[in-house]
Amino acid sequence: MELCYRLIDKLETEAQLTKEEWITLFQERSPGLAEYLFERARKWQHVYFGNKVYTRGLIEFTNYCKNDCYYCGIRRSSKTACRYRLSLDEILACCKEGYRLGFRTFVLQGGEDGWFTQDRLEEIIRKIKQGYPDCALTLSVGERSKESYQRLYDAGADRYLLRHETAEESHYRMLHPSELSPSRRKQCLYYLKETGFQTGTGFLVGSPGQTAAHLAEDMLFIHRLKPHMVGIGPFVPHHDTPFAKEPQGTLELTLYLIGLLRVMMPKLLIPATTALGTIDPQGREKGIQAGANVVMPNLSPLSVRKKYALYDNKICTGDEAAECWESLEQSMERIGYQLVSERGDYQE
Ligand code: 5AD
Repeated sequence: MELCYRLIDKLETEAQLTKEEWITLFQERSPGLAEYLFERARKWQHVYFGNKVYTRGLIEFTNYCKNDCYYCGIRRSSKTACRYRLSLDEILACCKEGYRLGFRTFVLQGGEDGWFTQDRLEEIIRKIKQGYPDCALTLSVGERSKESYQRLYDAGADRYLLRHETAEESHYRMLHPSELSPSRRKQCLYYLKETGFQTGTGFLVGSPGQTAAHLAEDMLFIHRLKPHMVGIGPFVPHHDTPFAKEPQGTLELTLYLIGLLRVMMPKLLIPATTALGTIDPQGREKGIQAGANVVMPNLSPLSVRKKYALYDNKICTGDEAAECWESLEQSMERIGYQLVSERGDYQE
């Protein structure tokens, strides 16, 4: 469809589309159109980032969670999740090893775990920033009050990841129990930006019940929020959740969305996510070639990696493991990209 090519050109020049235009771009997509999109995406990637791929060391420090999201393997009501928490010393050991490997950004990600009180989180942040003042620290610890975000920021955290998961209200309610609210989730993202965090959001691709209209809402919300980072990955079923039997999201649609995000917001930091690497052995490389510019290898201790099972078959001992910096570096070189250590802050 000729119209779709013109919509991609419009997205490139005007940075936004109407809801109907977005829906058309999702419903009428074709392999030829995707190739056209990826060429535009790579052009912008090259303009702002050259051939650099930024690295973030991911530390999954707790899999306790008070939330009960229907898609997630570490949801509160999972009886099979084997729960763990890392101690401050264990977290610092991850940073030490990560620093040695070349990481200059650490991402502390966990379930919403009340054991890590405000004071404990602040202590962890201060210790990491004391030990590694040249590194950026990213938090991914869920929904909190504006005051709490402010204190985490004042303690030294630089960035915060909180995916909105799906922007459309009724779809959000389909994926979450009623105590979780789509408006509160979005409110948190605005609080994070106001606090001064480099803020990341994102959504699940191919989650149960997702339609082209829902994806259009995701793109419109991202355009309004103007985040610094957007992480998306395919929904992958977890056997011990209500969505165990639902089909997984596709590589094709995830890559297409990465390309659209790059063209809509050329300076965005976009990770080629673990979930993408899980559904395809070349998933992360393909993500980079569609417009992504970040990888987030796992720095968690080997003993807990399998336990942070958000979904089935999560890769956790191969190349995605941080130990394999060199092999990741080689696989990026093979597609013409360079893995870099630098912090890679968002550039206005
Ligand atoms: N499949 C893919 N991604 C998932 N996440 C949680 N559960 C799943 C799943 N089953 C994602 C959510 C969350 C991030 C940390 O992991 O989007 O924000």
